[in-house]
Amino acid sequence: MRPSQPESAAVKPLTFAVLRLLSDGEFHSGEEMAQQLNVSRASVWQAMRNLDEAGVDLFRVPGRGYRLREPLHWIDRDKIRAGLGDRAGLFDLEIADCLASTNSRLLEKAVQGAPHGSCVITEMQTAGRGRRGREWHANLGGSLTFSLLWRFNQGAGFLSGLSLAVGVALMRALNQVGVSGAGLKWPNDVLHQHRKLAGILIELQGDMLGPSAAVIGIGINLKLSGKVLNRIDQAVVDLHSIGGDVPERNFLLANILLHLADVLNEFDEGGFSSLREEWLKHHAYHEKQVLLILPDGSHHQGHLLDVADDGALLVRTAVGKQRFTSGEISLRTVA
Ligand code: BTN
Repeated sequence: MRPSQPESAAVKPLTFAVLRLLSDGEFHSGEEMAQQLNVSRASVWQAMRNLDEAGVDLFRVPGRGYRLREPLHWIDRDKIRAGLGDRAGLFDLEIADCLASTNSRLLEKAVQGAPHGSCVITEMQTAGRGRRGREWHANLGGSLTFSLLWRFNQGAGFLSGLSLAVGVALMRALNQVGVSGAGLKWPNDVLHQHRKLAGILIELQGDMLGPSAAVIGIGINLKLSGKVLNRIDQAVVDLHSIGGDVPERNFLLANILLHLADVLNEFDEGGFSSLREEWLKHHAYHEKQVLLILPDGSHHQGHLLDVADDGALLVRTAVGKQRFTSGEISLRTVA
């Protein structure tokens, strides 16, 4: 694994104040920014360094100052609410410049009684978390990173298959904003031509008998900077390189939230089974030879048959048809 993003990267409020001045995409001199923000030029210079470390693409032209490679569009409560329309009241939005992780933040809020539909969105995470203890890397303005809290009357035992259901919501939203060619990999990656476009991290609270709560964390690659790409040790892709227009982040987020609400309500009524057919239509590895690595490190090779009504993966291995409820799959090229 490559070294993680420096903890100090772009976490200071001044760094975001500088970025807000630069976000119009025009040139701004260090002196002008220092004057506007009432700080020293050295502080502005340090903020520029932090931006650079955070993966923000900056130009510096002697005599003219600094400029972003392209304008930056901020996460904006009013725009999200406009996209949510008459269902805006379903969601309680918290928008932050910088957090360690939106999942961590929302888990804390959930313990303190945050309402169903609470959503935490951040411009930047300093310790974004992926599945199986991995890090999730994203860059300012070039990613969408957020978490949604959904409360269920039923227990955590009922929530198997939830991560697959969330994948269905993501596919609906991506298709609606014109992204084509994406697919799902069990249990919940969104891929484009075998490269990862989006990831889902679900963390549960509550006991087996209920009630329970799920913190659903989603990261989508919109336009990753070269610096962030260098930190990622798996095959990834972003919406920009797939082609077509990259959807505006607030609009995309509102779309995803609306589809999540639909899918999660459906899931609440009957679990994953009614969403299974739709999931299978997007299944990137259907009927392929796969290698499955379980959390205990054991390897299982076989022919991917299906997913069950509870979201388990069904694979024909050398010992017959087997059910798997956790693990990581990769395609296995057959000689
Ligand atoms: C994966 O490994 O595929 C899951 C990645 C999930 C990343 C998102 S980004 C927003 C939320 N906050 C986190 O710390 N992780 C999730």
